[in-house]
Amino acid sequence: MVYFQPSERAQKLSVNFFDRLDNKLAESEQTGLPFINLSKGNPDLPTPEHIVASLKAAVDQPKNHAYPPFLGKENVRLAITEFYKKEYGVLLDPINEIAIFHGSHIGITGIPQVLLNPGDYMLITDPCYPIYYSSATLSQAKTFALPLEESNRFLPDYRCIPGDVLKKARLLMLNYPNNPTGALATKDFFRKTIDFAREHRLPVINDFAYASLGFDQNKPLSILQTKHAKSVAVEVYTLSKTYNMAGWRFGFAVGNASIIKAFNKFHTHAYSTVFGAVQDAAACALQSSQKCAINLLRIYQRRRDVLIDGLRRIGWKVASPPGTFFAWLRVPAGYDSQSFSELLFQKAHIVVAPGIGFGEKGDSFIRISLVNSEEVLAEAVKRIEALHLFK
Ligand SMILES: Cc1ncc(COP(=O)(O)O)c(C=O)c1O
Repeated sequence: MVYFQPSERAQKLSVNFFDRLDNKLAESEQTGLPFINLSKGNPDLPTPEHIVASLKAAVDQPKNHAYPPFLGKENVRLAITEFYKKEYGVLLDPINEIAIFHGSHIGITGIPQVLLNPGDYMLITDPCYPIYYSSATLSQAKTFALPLEESNRFLPDYRCIPGDVLKKARLLMLNYPNNPTGALATKDFFRKTIDFAREHRLPVINDFAYASLGFDQNKPLSILQTKHAKSVAVEVYTLSKTYNMAGWRFGFAVGNASIIKAFNKFHTHAYSTVFGAVQDAAACALQSSQKCAINLLRIYQRRRDVLIDGLRRIGWKVASPPGTFFAWLRVPAGYDSQSFSELLFQKAHIVVAPGIGFGEKGDSFIRISLVNSEEVLAEAVKRIEALHLFK
């Protein structure tokens, strides 16, 4: 075999953080011990039946066996328009303000590539969803990470950006509800964001992957609900978490028409089209009753309470996440995120995501996901209690 050296750009991509966590779990399975995996963000419940039924019917349609239109089918673009109007009171032009793709991963790695030139800065946060670093690498851009402090409810403060970075900043990437911290954006924060972006002519992406997951009656805000947002911002939505459709791969971006136009062109070259039957099923999910999404939110909220109440009961002073299906837990004194994760792995047979994987600011935290049953989460609490770490 001839060994072919990957391109410089490919070499610069680090091993996907979640791939590493998978390897950790594979290692644990080899020992034959019963491990609890609280590290991943893969929804554990099935897609609602009416959506599955709509896919089955759509597969039978010969029209869906051919190439679909490059910019997506009209029915799904109209369904997205209706959904944003109904859920957020946001009006969209179905032709010029919507792009569809295979899951939001494509949007959050692709949109930066149509906005950034080599050497530009992409503003991200620390901690953040690690794929944003991959987006910057693919765009040959530099990153500047705005710290997210618990004292500021894990919202960034734009005053910390150095002048020379701001001059070369060509994209601000946000993610609220936030993975990994579970934080929600406020109206005031989004207003400040749009004012800041307009002042500096800076495009903004809000990765809205956890759009449906705001607990205690706090419905997450769309950035597009902010005045003038469409002049600078796009929002990336996915069906993966709202409807347990992670395997189906369907997402979309809405907002600023110039960004959508540039991305749509890129998408036709890089990814071509999305299977028509998946588009039909996506339209069904968005247009049907949202009861299934509300029920799912209730399930995650109960799981969150089992975990957080349980951990507090055993003496671990943890914060309760207001959104997403993650709990972002400060590690006990004397540990960092890796040593504490390793302790849980070795002594409690629990796999968690060490916060360092999301940025340096994450090194005092671990991330536990709620994509496990209440029983499993209660068992994890019991195992942690048995370590006698807390008084
Ligand atoms: C913040 C965030 N954005 C995007 C994604 C990707 O979602 P998908 O590609 O399934 O739409 C995830 C998945 O976990 C995520 O946590």
